[in-house]
Amino acid sequence: MKAAILKAFGSPLAVETVPDPVPGTGEVVVDIVAAGVLSYTSEVFSGARKYLLELPVIPGVGGIGRVSSVGPDATKLAIGDWVFCDPTVRSRDGGLAPDITLQGWSARGPGGLKLQQHFRHGSFAQKIMVPTENAKPIGPITESEAAQWCALSTLLVPYGGFLAANLQAGETVLVSGATGKFGSCAVAIALAMGAAHVIAPGRNEAVRADLVRRFGERVRTVKLTGNEDDDRERMRQASPAPIDCVMDIMPPSVSTSVVRAALMTVRPYGRVVLMGGVGMLGGAGLELPYPWIMRNCITIHGVWMCPPDAPVKLVQLIRAGLLRLDQFAVTSFALDQVNEAVTHAAEHAGPFKMTVIRP
Ligand SMILES: NC(=O)c1ccc[n+]([C@@H]2O[C@H](COP(=O)([O-])OP(=O)(O)OC[C@H]3O[C@@H](n4cnc5c(N)ncnc54)[C@H](OP(=O)(O)O)[C@@H]3O)[C@@H](O)[C@H]2O)c1
Repeated sequence: MKAAILKAFGSPLAVETVPDPVPGTGEVVVDIVAAGVLSYTSEVFSGARKYLLELPVIPGVGGIGRVSSVGPDATKLAIGDWVFCDPTVRSRDGGLAPDITLQGWSARGPGGLKLQQHFRHGSFAQKIMVPTENAKPIGPITESEAAQWCALSTLLVPYGGFLAANLQAGETVLVSGATGKFGSCAVAIALAMGAAHVIAPGRNEAVRADLVRRFGERVRTVKLTGNEDDDRERMRQASPAPIDCVMDIMPPSVSTSVVRAALMTVRPYGRVVLMGGVGMLGGAGLELPYPWIMRNCITIHGVWMCPPDAPVKLVQLIRAGLLRLDQFAVTSFALDQVNEAVTHAAEHAGPFKMTVIRP
């Protein structure tokens, strides 16, 4: 098969012919039809993000394709089924605390790295081998729809966060980072899950206006000024009801005071979800006042990716028409153009834009 290979951090990907993956029991092989390229892919490939990723590797985080072979333990998957290749691979021997690797992308700690030695290669290839349980059926689609279904990879991240926080229909949500790629998906997900209102702070006026144009008056935008106390007050005032749940999904470049301004808008007994990259590259830690957490009975959830059942539930939201994939504008590249795709993704970051490789 043809695959893109990262041989050294800071060097371009090389597109080469490599052996097809050979599945064992408990594994399936999927013919990749479309694989999304995140805007910060170049930061991962340059090494700037310091992700745990052993080289050489076929990178690429998640993808859409058709099952080309199944193992003897598969009871429902059949050859030809359309699936989402869920990149969140968990060790099966981990009991209460499985190790996790994001296939083709990064790992958590030494256990995640060990898992990465086997479930190593990602989706920038014609074929990928995934654990059987990571091939999530999405139902019938056409070849041309596969690229838009790559939005699952981004949507699943905030969906995992809201599932962890047990978001209920009718609640009021604030998304810190709402004008970003993942944050705008968090706005869409919260609305699809039935949030009464989503407070969407940001500096970018055009994106704030676009969120209201897309989703209507359940979205309330707030202009951020950079002053922590002022911003917190503005966010509270913009909300028609006490804020039940705050999700932060800011990139590593953002200071903790911006995050704290948002988190502390949550009502007493509210829930906070931390999903961003803040602090991943060092810098000041997030300081939250102990008495504020204690006296207000605040629950704080740290969430990386999503639980194993989230992809199938998300597909149901999409199939029910609660979440529209046609919100996403897709630019596609052939596998041979993978380096151009990475550059394009960085230059065309932002809400509801997707760069996709079609191997
Ligand atoms: N937990 C997980 O499972 C998981 C999974 C994937 C990704 N992530 C994390 O999510 C992060 C966000 O990714 P992304 O692609 O959505 O990032 P992005 O599109 O670059 O998001 C940028 C956001 O940050 C805001 N921002 C930047 N600098 C700011 C500042 N100084 N003050 C206030 N706001 C500022 C932007 O607001 P304006 O444009 O309005 O200024 C925008 O809302 C990633 O970096 C990654 O670390 C987490």
